[in-house]
Amino acid sequence: MLDISGQIAERIDAGRTLPAGWYVGRDVLEEERRLIFERSWQYVGRTDQLQAPGDYLTATIGNIPVVVARHPDGGLRGFVNVCRHRCAEVVLGPGHRKVLQCHYHAWSYDLDGALVSAPRSDREADFDPAAFGLLPVAVDSWPPFVFVHVGSDPVPLPDYLGELPGRMRSDGVDVDNLEFRQHGEWEVAANWKVVVENFDECYHCPVAHPSFSRVMEVDPVGYRLEEGDWWSRAVTGIRRSARGADAELPYPLSGRLVRGQFGFVWPNFTVVQNPGPDNLMAFWFVPDGPERTRVVMDYWFGRDVPDETAQQLVDFNVVVGREDQVLVESVQRGLRSGRVSEGRLLLDSEHLIQHFHRLVHRCLAG
Ligand code: FES
Ligand SMILES: [Fe+2]
Repeated sequence: MLDISGQIAERIDAGRTLPAGWYVGRDVLEEERRLIFERSWQYVGRTDQLQAPGDYLTATIGNIPVVVARHPDGGLRGFVNVCRHRCAEVVLGPGHRKVLQCHYHAWSYDLDGALVSAPRSDREADFDPAAFGLLPVAVDSWPPFVFVHVGSDPVPLPDYLGELPGRMRSDGVDVDNLEFRQHGEWEVAANWKVVVENFDECYHCPVAHPSFSRVMEVDPVGYRLEEGDWWSRAVTGIRRSARGADAELPYPLSGRLVRGQFGFVWPNFTVVQNPGPDNLMAFWFVPDGPERTRVVMDYWFGRDVPDETAQQLVDFNVVVGREDQVLVESVQRGLRSGRVSEGRLLLDSEHLIQHFHRLVHRCLAG
């Protein structure tokens, strides 16, 4: 059990970071899986992967495999993806099935989770299929994002997301005009919280992101930070010098969007819109171990955005991402040293990190 005593709440209030030891231990990650990931709404995939009845996708939340499927009634259904026979995962990967058939001994479940066939079960005198349905989990979407909550009594997703979808819409996100174009993944050698913290501030942008800082305002006056219960957002504008005809830009800024916005949904999901042509990017930071994070990336673009422009925006994002990777892996080595027990935030620029730390502390404290 993690020691969450030692006035950590007071230290967070005073702008201290979480204890360095919370970023390196496997025991801490196991607590986080149980108390954070298994008790929050988690991004699992895209609505376009679940269009036809029988389309399904799988994910793992904390330690819990889940499957989400499109039901013939048009709704989404979510289940713990663990077979009631001997606990294999029922289905692997994404796919399309009328029934979810386990790959081990072919027990089959319909899209309501009911066990509809179990080979040779008729030879058992007291076998009651009704007792062995898949266990349901909550599923909902903020199109094009699909979320699952494996805990009991989840806050409804619209309440959890609060004002974030509306604010992102009013600053340019038009999901009806977006189409999915690309998926990518990469691994970084840093604890997932270091990756979130890096996303939650742009204090480092003028120092570490030259191309980003050529496009967007990164000074504290132009870069606005907002927070709600379970979300936060940074909003900024196009840099004045980027508007000039001879500005050297990493991608063409011509387009409808005049703001960059960086939304965060507790605990590990982010939504990014860059200024310029219609675009939307989702980054999901999944812990792969105490000191490893898998960054899952999905990219959407306006239907009229040419592939070449879309690729320039993806490349722009990759450059920024590689710059961030150097930073977070460096922080991880510093945390692992054990010589500096905590950091000290500059709250004017980094209060979204404090917001994140309060949520981490609150959840780990139960
Ligand atoms: S474990 Fe699924 S059918 Fe045996
Ligand atoms: Fe960054």
